[in-house]
Amino acid sequence: MGAKYKTFTPGHIDASQPHPGRVYNALLGGKDHYEVDAAVAAAIGKVHPNSRATAWAARHCMERIATFMAREGITQFLDLGCGSSIEPDLDQIVRSIAPDARVVSVDSDPIVARRSEAFMSPPQSAEGRSVFLQADLCDPSSVLDSPEVRNTLDLTQPVGLCFNNVLCFIDDARRPHDAVAAYVEAVAPGSLMSVIHPTADFKDLSEVVVAYNSEDGSGPLRLRGRAEILRFFTGLDLIEPGLDTSRGWRSDIAVPQVGVSNIAVVDTSTLTDEEDSKYAAVARKP
Ligand SMILES: C[S@@+](CC[C@H](N)C(=O)[O-])C[C@H]1O[C@@H](n2cnc3c(N)ncnc32)[C@H](O)[C@@H]1O
Repeated sequence: MGAKYKTFTPGHIDASQPHPGRVYNALLGGKDHYEVDAAVAAAIGKVHPNSRATAWAARHCMERIATFMAREGITQFLDLGCGSSIEPDLDQIVRSIAPDARVVSVDSDPIVARRSEAFMSPPQSAEGRSVFLQADLCDPSSVLDSPEVRNTLDLTQPVGLCFNNVLCFIDDARRPHDAVAAYVEAVAPGSLMSVIHPTADFKDLSEVVVAYNSEDGSGPLRLRGRAEILRFFTGLDLIEPGLDTSRGWRSDIAVPQVGVSNIAVVDTSTLTDEEDSKYAAVARKP
């Protein structure tokens, strides 16, 4: 369970520049990051108290969304901006519910590719499969037309499209709404789509944005308001409770106990909306 199979595209890992996925790892309390990433996480911690619990709230929301989608009968997943492996990963969760699930995990970061290679254990079983693709989600055709997607997913059947904690790293000039619309267009009716996205709707987070976007930050970080985030769901039917905070979204869902995290999990139960400062939603393609 959790073994990943990937097609490795060599890429240069620049340890002198912070990177969003590694900063996230540092915020969570993991060890898969460099000093530059830890420095950004520390700067964020100074201006946004409880930043570690906040990062865990985002992670736990991803876990509940994966659980929800798999229990809704989704057996194919396209996880865009999957991030470095932290157990339990999305593919571990969904394959614990649906062993025949097929997951394509996409990330633009070469270090995520290397980590996935470390988890590689071919040959694949006849049933479930997890495939990694190093690609930029802003180029939907390079993802959707890739052999990894074409040979793993049947796009005529419903797919779980996951944009969890990633669209905030795509500024407007890169047209993230158009990219999301292209993925929605490509998948079958009945597909589910999720977005988890930070916002300044509850609290002024300009200092966090500065920490991310400063010269030694890992930016760009683009916070979005409720209306901009809802626009990602254009043409889709939002599932109850609609757009909620990440800590609040379906907090009743119990995530299967799979994988052994080597990062100490932090209690998120006392977080306020201001500390959480993230929205989450899932919607269905009619
Ligand atoms: C904060 S992590 C989120 C990991 C996971 N989805 C989660 O919710 O726990 C964001 C990931 O998105 C990736 N990412 C950022 N921009 C991307 C892009 N344009 N295409 C693909 N991946 C991207 C980063 O490399 C990073 O690993």
